[in-house]
Amino acid sequence: MPAPMKEREPATDPTKIFHYTDLQRKKPTRENDPYTYMHGWNNRHQSEVIPGTLPVAQNNPQEVRFGLYTEGITYSAFAAPRAHNYSTYMYRVRPAAAHNGYKKIESKAHIQNCFLSLNPEVETLPEQAEWGPFPLPEDSDKIDFVDGLHTLGGSGDPNLREGMALYVYAINASMEKRAFCNTDGDFLICAQQGNLDVQTEFGMIFLQPGEICVIQRGVRFRIALGPGVEKARGYITEVWGSMWELPDLGPLGGHSLANPRDFLYPVAHIDEDLSGDWAVVNKNNGKYNCLEQDHSPFDLVAWHGNVVPYKYDLTKFASQNATSIDHTDPSVNTVLTAKSRDPNTPLADFLWFGPRWDVASNTFRLPYFHRNSASEFLACLYGEGLGRSDDFQPGGGSFEGGHTPHGGFSEAYVDEMRIQESEPRKILENQMTIMVESSRTFLWTEYARVGCGTTNTRGTDPKVWDTLPDRFSNNPEAKALLKRVKEDKKLMEERSKVYFDDGALKELLNSKTNGC
Ligand SMILES: [Fe+2]
Repeated sequence: MPAPMKEREPATDPTKIFHYTDLQRKKPTRENDPYTYMHGWNNRHQSEVIPGTLPVAQNNPQEVRFGLYTEGITYSAFAAPRAHNYSTYMYRVRPAAAHNGYKKIESKAHIQNCFLSLNPEVETLPEQAEWGPFPLPEDSDKIDFVDGLHTLGGSGDPNLREGMALYVYAINASMEKRAFCNTDGDFLICAQQGNLDVQTEFGMIFLQPGEICVIQRGVRFRIALGPGVEKARGYITEVWGSMWELPDLGPLGGHSLANPRDFLYPVAHIDEDLSGDWAVVNKNNGKYNCLEQDHSPFDLVAWHGNVVPYKYDLTKFASQNATSIDHTDPSVNTVLTAKSRDPNTPLADFLWFGPRWDVASNTFRLPYFHRNSASEFLACLYGEGLGRSDDFQPGGGSFEGGHTPHGGFSEAYVDEMRIQESEPRKILENQMTIMVESSRTFLWTEYARVGCGTTNTRGTDPKVWDTLPDRFSNNPEAKALLKRVKEDKKLMEERSKVYFDDGALKELLNSKTNGC
């Protein structure tokens, strides 16, 4: 007789699911996502608003249909090897070069991109740091993405094409008639609160908490609040001189972790009204300047290429972990990685900590005490996170620099350090936490250290470590054995003397002769 089966009903709340498949959706997007997408990591996609617009068998025809202009955007050296060669052709109503000049603009944003030790505005955080939820704008202030971007920390400098930066965005307004263009690096945007409508030159992306999207250097985009959303917040990891890639899988084989087919790319989309004055705000070497123009920058009728923003739903992550013993290194949860110039060390890894089974036996399953070489920035998107402290709430964050000692101290954590039967269990349910790991030493901005107002630079009160007392020093068995080890060592030293000391050897020989 087969065991009675418990039927599984489709779930509806993506923040309460174990995995995307709990939703039993036939579509690759959540129910409230209004857009359609193309699938497949790193493809050379193509899309057109009006079928038949893309030139056939060539990129640069003498005359593009409807009098459109051909414009190319490159992302690599022209002659880069094929696997690293990135470019997209756009067929648009007006070329991006048609504008009314560059202007400087004022902004309420806190942008800092120079993370060199000689910059007095950035400093290390030698202790563990924790942030309560980063502040959202007051209702009296209208803050869009341009003004609501705040750098927390980073390493390197975009001018050198070397390094990375962490940001939070906190907004209560949509970008109206203005676009953003980051000429410094690639943004990995992770929504924490509030759905966003992300309009890119290549089409629309709907982004909601638990999803990420990547917008490459030089691509123009506009962020609007999703339907019914009054305030939104999220995290951004920007990489300079590198790009986000899927990690290699090694012995795992061809599938798992973030699967290539789950990366979604927009389809071509054109603004219905292309008229009106627009501003394109460029972030260039960490400073804003602005292009003014009398037409929409979102005027592509068709495009083809592989420099295209994409999105990924973190609830689709196919987690792998220990099925026999020991705690698997968190690198097994890498969603995307960005290479550094050191072939053995990534510049940045973006990690997933979502719901999963915990099944290792005869093992201390929780993260062991560690002083990892990497810097770790953690943030909870929703739910109870990793329960690090009362301050570790959705919308905040925590940081441990490379080799900062840390680990757990809760009663449950200590309780795990006992010999026990290990039952399979589901962990980290109803929450989503992300981590950005980097080989770099982070320097932190004034906004992160003080200005945001939610900083606690000693996220862990040293008193908590009192739950981890010295159980060795007064252990009578350990004491007796230490004494014995010392005596044995002395004895061994005396017996070993003959190998190295001619006098001792003579003595040994004499004693033997006398003995005969
Ligand atoms: Fe850690």
